[in-house]
Amino acid sequence: MKFEDLTPARALEWLGESNGSLRLLDQTLLPCETTSLECRSAEQVVEAIRSLRVRGAPAIGVAAAYGVVVGVREAASLERSKFDERLHVVIQQLAASRPTAVNLFWALDRQRQVAERMPTAAPQDVVKALLTEARAIETEDRSMCAAIGRHGAELLTTGDAVLTHCNAGALATAGDGTALAVIYAAVADGKQIRVFADETRPLLQGARLTAWELSQRGVPVTLICDSMAATVMRQRKVQAVIVGADRIAANGDTANKIGTYSVACLAKTHGIPFYVAAPSSTFDLSLSNGDQIPIEERSAAEITHGFGRQTAPEGIDVYNPAFDVTPAESITAIITERGVIRPVSEAAIREMLARRSGFPA
Ligand code: MRU
Repeated sequence: MKFEDLTPARALEWLGESNGSLRLLDQTLLPCETTSLECRSAEQVVEAIRSLRVRGAPAIGVAAAYGVVVGVREAASLERSKFDERLHVVIQQLAASRPTAVNLFWALDRQRQVAERMPTAAPQDVVKALLTEARAIETEDRSMCAAIGRHGAELLTTGDAVLTHCNAGALATAGDGTALAVIYAAVADGKQIRVFADETRPLLQGARLTAWELSQRGVPVTLICDSMAATVMRQRKVQAVIVGADRIAANGDTANKIGTYSVACLAKTHGIPFYVAAPSSTFDLSLSNGDQIPIEERSAAEITHGFGRQTAPEGIDVYNPAFDVTPAESITAIITERGVIRPVSEAAIREMLARRSGFPA
């Protein structure tokens, strides 16, 4: 079967019209089970985001946009002021699901603006407009992934092996991913690319999701423990690192899955280019640097009782930040849907984000 004919994994899809539901592939069950769940309330969407059934910055944003629709439609028969109160509560609930990925707040802000732009409209019409906006956010995300892939593929040469961390693929977006979109686009161009996937402790997004997704698409992938990345680089087994991002500050400092910063340090030591691939919805220009990015801390049980088995002494003290920040100076380039930012600086970021995207904003 040709690479183009292999069906990509789909993290989420909207079924029906305003009274429809958000279907999510339950990523906590991968790679052993491909089971989906249908969310019909904002509470279900919040739970799915919090427990990583849907995860990855762009996918969280798209899910939250649909979460607003399922959260407010029951209030469509109320008078407009009561409907607006419900909308406010739902947006607050969704915003409290996870703190680091800015795409969540970006998508919720777009939904808030939809309602604000039609202050005298009937609630039913606002619900329809919120669904239209959620669909637009999803479609734009798919286009952004494709454009990131096109720009990034030019950085890879046939025969290259690429190391990636966590999952920044189709499972993390509405399209082909960000970091993995670059791989898919290069392979579609006829280049021979192989991937080394860090397993990504503690929740194993690399092992469970990236290795699964790449195998499904027929891309050669080798799974390694996070602690093996230094050796793989020293042995010159990889020619580039490409990762995704959860939030990029105005100066280019980038928050991504815990362990990304270690990979960036290793890449610098070994003279290997370290690329971040992210859509413009992942930039937060209100933050001057990465110290201001809120970092989610998750439960101790993810480390002491990973996947149901106790692997540490009862009651041991645990620190479990889910993300870290890679300083801009350790990033060779940022691949966006508008082009490649290189070298990474605040001026270059602002100039790139001011460019037209080439598809409706
Ligand atoms: O905790 P997760 O699985 O949501 O973390 C995901 C990542 O860190 C991804 O690399 C990032 O969101 C980019 S996804 C295109």
